[in-house]
Amino acid sequence: GLKLTREELGDCQRCKLKDKRTNIVFGMGKPDAALVFVGEAPGGDEDRTGEPFVGAAGQLLTKMIEAMGLSREDVYICNILKCRPPGNRNPEPDEIVECEPFLKKQLAAIRPRMIVTLGKFAAQCLLRSDAPISRLRGAWKEYQGIPLMPTFHPAFLLRTPSAKREVWADLQEVMRELDRLGIQRTSPSRPA
Ligand code: URA
Repeated sequence: GLKLTREELGDCQRCKLKDKRTNIVFGMGKPDAALVFVGEAPGGDEDRTGEPFVGAAGQLLTKMIEAMGLSREDVYICNILKCRPPGNRNPEPDEIVECEPFLKKQLAAIRPRMIVTLGKFAAQCLLRSDAPISRLRGAWKEYQGIPLMPTFHPAFLLRTPSAKREVWADLQEVMRELDRLGIQRTSPSRPA
């Protein structure tokens, strides 16, 4: 399960991010969540606290989750990389290679009914695609038989608020599927 996967990760020294991290950000939320959000990597706030998506982008993600009629406690939130890349630079291929097995084990333990990937790196990683996120987003894909919806990253939305319309459309697809599967949520409000 998740606990064993966290134990296996341990005080990870597998890649070069080990030297500059403060905390490993493993993931948080419901261990048997129906819906998992996968982001890119911890930023400064996450590195300081050990919790995923607690900075500015995280606050927007929280608003998105709540606008879907869910709460952070109903879902599971994690990243491809468990450690912060210095200066929030992009994940590098060798870092993804070392860390991705732990994401895969998390997903195997949780066995969610749906996955939402946030931004280019999570989508490209789980889908083994090099298509741009602008092409991937908004259409259902599959990861290991699990429906996966790629959408834009909330940090991108902070810079490009006009893209919120597309993300909300993507999340409406997810809500439709949650309802079809009879997964409990309160009625949606308006986009954040
Ligand atoms: N951005 C991410 O991709 N993940 C976090 O946890 C925070 C910001």
